Amino acid sequence: MASAAPAELPFHLRGNYAPVAEEITAFDLPVEGTLPPELRGLYVRNGPNPRSGTSPHWFTGDGMVHGVRLEGGRASWYRNRYVRTRVYEEGLSFVGEDGSVDRTVGVSNTNVVGHAGKLFALVESSFPMCLGPELQTLGAWDFDGRLATAMTAHPKLCPRTGEMHFFGYAFAPPFLVYHRVDAGGRLVQSEEIAVPGPTMIHDFAITEGHVVFMDLPVVFTPELAVQGRFPYQWSDGYGARLGVMPRGGRGAEVRWLEIEPCYVFHPFNAFEEGGRIVLDVARYPELWRQGSEGFDPAYLHRFVLDAAAGKVSEQRLDDRAIEFPRVDERRNGLPTRFGYAAANRLGAGSSPERLVKYELATGACRELDLGPGVAPSEFVLVPAGARAGEDEGWLVGYAFDRARGASDLLVLDAARFAGPPVARVRLPARVPFGFHGNWIPAV
Ligand SMILES: [Fe+2]
Repeated sequence: MASAAPAELPFHLRGNYAPVAEEITAFDLPVEGTLPPELRGLYVRNGPNPRSGTSPHWFTGDGMVHGVRLEGGRASWYRNRYVRTRVYEEGLSFVGEDGSVDRTVGVSNTNVVGHAGKLFALVESSFPMCLGPELQTLGAWDFDGRLATAMTAHPKLCPRTGEMHFFGYAFAPPFLVYHRVDAGGRLVQSEEIAVPGPTMIHDFAITEGHVVFMDLPVVFTPELAVQGRFPYQWSDGYGARLGVMPRGGRGAEVRWLEIEPCYVFHPFNAFEEGGRIVLDVARYPELWRQGSEGFDPAYLHRFVLDAAAGKVSEQRLDDRAIEFPRVDERRNGLPTRFGYAAANRLGAGSSPERLVKYELATGACRELDLGPGVAPSEFVLVPAGARAGEDEGWLVGYAFDRARGASDLLVLDAARFAGPPVARVRLPARVPFGFHGNWIPAV
C-alpha cells in the first residue's frame, strides 16, 4: 500500500476517507461561537478505521468511535477510540474457515446507539459491543443470551413506548429475524420473517402500529465470498418488496408488497396516515451491478404503502444526491415534516458537499453550504428541550475542514438552517468520513 500513488488507492483509503493513526484524548476544546448550555451530553459517531491502514472495502474496516462531550457551554473532551472487537484484538473474522459464524466477532463500525442505560457500537454482521462513558470497550452483548442472530446497526427506538425494535439478517437461514426489546433492555420477542433469499438488509422502519421491512435485490453471492470480495451484488431476478407487520406481530402476519427494483440503505422515517404507511427514504435506482466498490446516487423518495389494497405508490421527490437521512428521533414512527441529509453530487467516493433540509411531503429543499473545503458527515437533531417542537433544536455533526487538515464539531440551528453555525468546536485531528452517530443526553 505504501508504494501506491494516492490516485491508485480505492476511495475509502484516500483523502478524508483514509483512517487516522492515533487515538487522542483532548480536554477543553477551543470553541468559536457559543455552545447552547442545554447541550449536555455526548455526541458520538462510528466509522471504519482499519487498524492495518487498509481494508478491501469501505464497509469492512475496524470500527472507531469519535465522541465530544458537551456540558455547561463547554466542549469538555474529545476522544476517538477503536472498538476493541475480536477482529481488532485477535484478527478473527465472523465467518470461520469452515463457514461457521461467530456473532461475538465483528468490526462494530457502523453506528452507536444508546438504549436502557447501555451504549452499543453496532455492525450488522454481529452482536452489539457495549461501550463505557469514555468510549472504552466493555464487550459483546447478547441480551443475556436471548439474542441468537446478528443485530442491525439501525435499531429503532420508539419514542412512545421506549422499546427498541431491530432485526438480524444472515446469508444462511434464517435469513431475517425481527427482535423487540422492552424499555428496560430485556429482549422480549424474536420472530422469524420468511423471505425468498439472503439479501443485504441494512435498515428498516417502524410506525405507531407497524414494522416495515425492505427485501431488496442486493443478494448474497457465494462466488464473491469465495474470492474474498464483498459478497453482495445486484440481482435482476430477485424482485423487490416491502413487508408490513403489526408491531409485536407474528412473522406469518407480514404482508409483502411488490415495488420497482431499487436499493435503500436508509429511510428518513415512516408513519401511518389514513390507513396507509408513508415511508420516506434515500433510494438508489440500482446498486452494485458491477461490483460493490462504487455507489451511484440516492434520492429522496416517498413510498405510500396500502397493505389492504396490496399496493404501493412511489415517487421521487427531489433530484439531489443524498445520504445519511435523519429526522427528529422523537418523531420516530410518527408523522414527520422535516428531514435532514448530506448531499453530494457524485455519490460516495467524492466528498460530501453540503447539508440539506427537506419538507418531506413535497421535497422542498433548503441547502446549506458550509464553506469552501468544508465537508459534512451525518448530522443529528438534538431537541432544544423536553417540550421543543419538531425542528426546534440543534443539528450536530462533524465537518472536515480541508484547510486545517482537521475536523470540527458543528452546532447548527435547525430552524434557522441557512444561518452560520451557532458553534464550531475545533478538534485536534481529522474525523474520517464514516457512518452514523447519535446524541446521548447526560443523565
Ligand atoms: Fe447505515
